[in-house]
Amino acid sequence: MRNVDAFFQKMDALALALTYDDVRLKTAYSEVDPREVNIETRFSRNIPLKCPIVSAAMDTVTESRMAIALAKIGGIGVIHKALQPEAQASQVKRVKLHLNGLIEKPVTVSEHRTIQAIEEMRREKDYGFNTFPVVNNDEKLIGLLTRNDFDFCENWQLTAGEAMTPLAELTTAPLGTNLETAYKTMRDARKKVLPLITPTGGVGGMFVFSDAKRLSKSSSLSRHNVDANGHLRVAAAIGTGEAEIARAELLIKAGCDVIVIDTAHGDSKNVYDTLKVFKKLYPSIDIVVGNISEPESAARLADAGADGIKVGQGPGSICTTRIIAGVGCPQVTAVYNCAHAVRGQNIPICADGGIRNSGDIPIAIAAGADCVMLGRGLAGTTETPGSVKETPKGRVKIYRGMGSLGAMQASKASRERYRQGDVASDKLVPEGVETIVPYQGDAEPVIFRQIGGLRAGMGYTGSGSIRELQENGDFRRMSGAGLTESHPHDVTIIESNHNS
Ligand code: XMP
Repeated sequence: MRNVDAFFQKMDALALALTYDDVRLKTAYSEVDPREVNIETRFSRNIPLKCPIVSAAMDTVTESRMAIALAKIGGIGVIHKALQPEAQASQVKRVKLHLNGLIEKPVTVSEHRTIQAIEEMRREKDYGFNTFPVVNNDEKLIGLLTRNDFDFCENWQLTAGEAMTPLAELTTAPLGTNLETAYKTMRDARKKVLPLITPTGGVGGMFVFSDAKRLSKSSSLSRHNVDANGHLRVAAAIGTGEAEIARAELLIKAGCDVIVIDTAHGDSKNVYDTLKVFKKLYPSIDIVVGNISEPESAARLADAGADGIKVGQGPGSICTTRIIAGVGCPQVTAVYNCAHAVRGQNIPICADGGIRNSGDIPIAIAAGADCVMLGRGLAGTTETPGSVKETPKGRVKIYRGMGSLGAMQASKASRERYRQGDVASDKLVPEGVETIVPYQGDAEPVIFRQIGGLRAGMGYTGSGSIRELQENGDFRRMSGAGLTESHPHDVTIIESNHNS
């Protein structure tokens, strides 16, 4: 039996449920260098992560800017659903188009156009690039114009056909070539551009070496979380019912990689009904379902076909569900119980809510989570929606629960999350609060610190990978005095450095 199972069995015998501040991980013999640990994991069956951080589907946390920041660091952002479906889909599109692993429709030029005319078009349309596939009257690729052809051109009346590098001297690849193959082909041929050719000789896309290098798995530069075409991965939230299936359709058309059924009670009939319809319509798209906190719920969701499960009912910094409704389970026990219930079924668990310090992340993972979702941890960063406000106490941003009065009044989707879709505005029962949090600056260093804490925890416990932390992590229960001792004490802090 794993140590973690023995620990939670003991707690269960005492009918005791625990959360982050109740436990710490035991240190263990280690040969693990925190800088070298492998923090790759998954959000759902088929959606990998290069780091286990997911941003919350909240209107003060995740739109395209946050999702881009997260995917660039290897995580994933879940675009919130308190937006009209078209607006939410356009946020998804922004993430997908942010990096051009594959330029699907490169701007081509006719062989008869002069270099001068092409340069004028470039300026007029404000194109930031100088690489143009050249096509003949039949739209077949016959060559390539690159920056050099413009820089070294002395006769601007030359046509593209005269100035270009002809097809015979180019390296090309067939339509459908993926990013990895494209990167290796360009690297081996020492070519900066790789046009893709359709079966009829037309231009089917184009890879550019600098982007491919940044995105390729085989490149040491890449820590981005990208799909097979080199586009950043993104998730988006839906609710339940027919209209939300229509929302999912728009999101998937926009390129969304994984859908999240985002409700306050994932073990509900309307969730199962929506999950069933979704799986029938989109068997190849992963769907993560939440939130739940009991093992029986996890088992039911697994049986119903969820590709990932989100755990957390009431642990969030802005949540009041446990206070208002009297339900829920402290988060570490909830994560353990749910993960244990679906162990061996290849269904990743996302620990959602209640992460206060970076040290809570290795704890969540040792309890069985594959990744963690952060609201408060990312709130107040530059990439969250909303502006920075100057106050006498410093710069702040708004962070609010999706079940707060303001969020529920602003959007039906938020009311539906708390099953109050048609409730009049003055009859709403909030399950969350509206707050301000200090402005934290850019998300990247904030996430970097969180990942740094995880790496340190993995070093102390001798865990070289997320899987090893899940298998070997062992807990010790901590008293209130132990917690006090853990934080700085009997001192006056003069420089906080975000680590107290
Ligand atoms: P943290 O602790 O990271 O938690 O701020 C974020 C998670 O909290 C959930 N959430 C809510 N839960 N009432 C709740 O009971 C709310 O108003 C609310 N809004 C968000 C959600 O799961 C999020 O990811």
